[in-house]
Amino acid sequence: MSSQDDVRRMTIADIARMHADGVRLPMLTAYDYPTARILDDAGIPLLLVGDSLGQVLLGYDSTVRVTLDEMLHHTRAVVRGARRALVIGDMPFLTYSTPAKAVENAGRFLRDGAGAVKLEGGARLERTVETLVGAGIPVMGHIGWTPQSQHAMGGKVRVQGRSRSQARQLLSDAFTLQEAGAFAIVLELVPEQLAAAITERLSIPTIGIGAGAGCSGQVQVVTDLLGLGDFIPRHARPYANLRETIGAAAAAWAADVAAGAFPGPAEATRMADEVLADALGRTAQDRPAASGEAAGIAIPLDRDL
Ligand code: KIV
Repeated sequence: MSSQDDVRRMTIADIARMHADGVRLPMLTAYDYPTARILDDAGIPLLLVGDSLGQVLLGYDSTVRVTLDEMLHHTRAVVRGARRALVIGDMPFLTYSTPAKAVENAGRFLRDGAGAVKLEGGARLERTVETLVGAGIPVMGHIGWTPQSQHAMGGKVRVQGRSRSQARQLLSDAFTLQEAGAFAIVLELVPEQLAAAITERLSIPTIGIGAGAGCSGQVQVVTDLLGLGDFIPRHARPYANLRETIGAAAAAWAADVAAGAFPGPAEATRMADEVLADALGRTAQDRPAASGEAAGIAIPLDRDL
């Protein structure tokens, strides 16, 4: 007999096995308990608590503003919601600027239930990734467009790797991360031919976003997938229109409230009419309130009216 307790959380070994078996890996971002439950029940094996949280959930103008405490708060909620998926915590800006700092902060994600962390950056993070992996902390890399470096990368969201030198740099970044021990690499906004070429040359999976179909897996920001955001980026495809669904539900409910149609009998509870009559002093033999009952308060009973 199977029970809920039989459910086992996925590990990076499971992800490596799926990749070896040729499974195209789906990863979605998740930031809260109910969404994590739904995505987990839908069989999504990788849930990324992305620092996109800052923009799509908290209303910040960039991911640079997201704090470690905010990331951990949401990671714990996702871990509670997802029983099966590997939960990956995205390390926020400046929390992995030295290997020692990275170990300390990544350790907090793992203590809170994440199974891995993600860092933005290529070859410059070689020692940091080696140190994390050496400390037993699984690492997902992230190269191409890396939003935390937006100020250094010219501010404007841009496809990375179109020139020879950029393409060479990305190939070298990918290899360095693999050699340092990363178990997977996100490729964000990379031309599809280059992403496919990187993927073919690596043994670990690449997870693309705006990087074409030649990656080993794909990641999307869940609010884009669900049609919940203010705008849908070109690389995303909405599979639902929750913005419209939620707006319509809220407007319909408000109209029912205005019309007195909510709540109805099904949403209300009743008490015994005699008990209410007694409580309100409506009965012929109304007795004075006993000591210990709500005596002496200035609520007029029917006998006083
Ligand atoms: O924060 C995030 O959502 C991400 C994905 C876009 C990969 O890093």
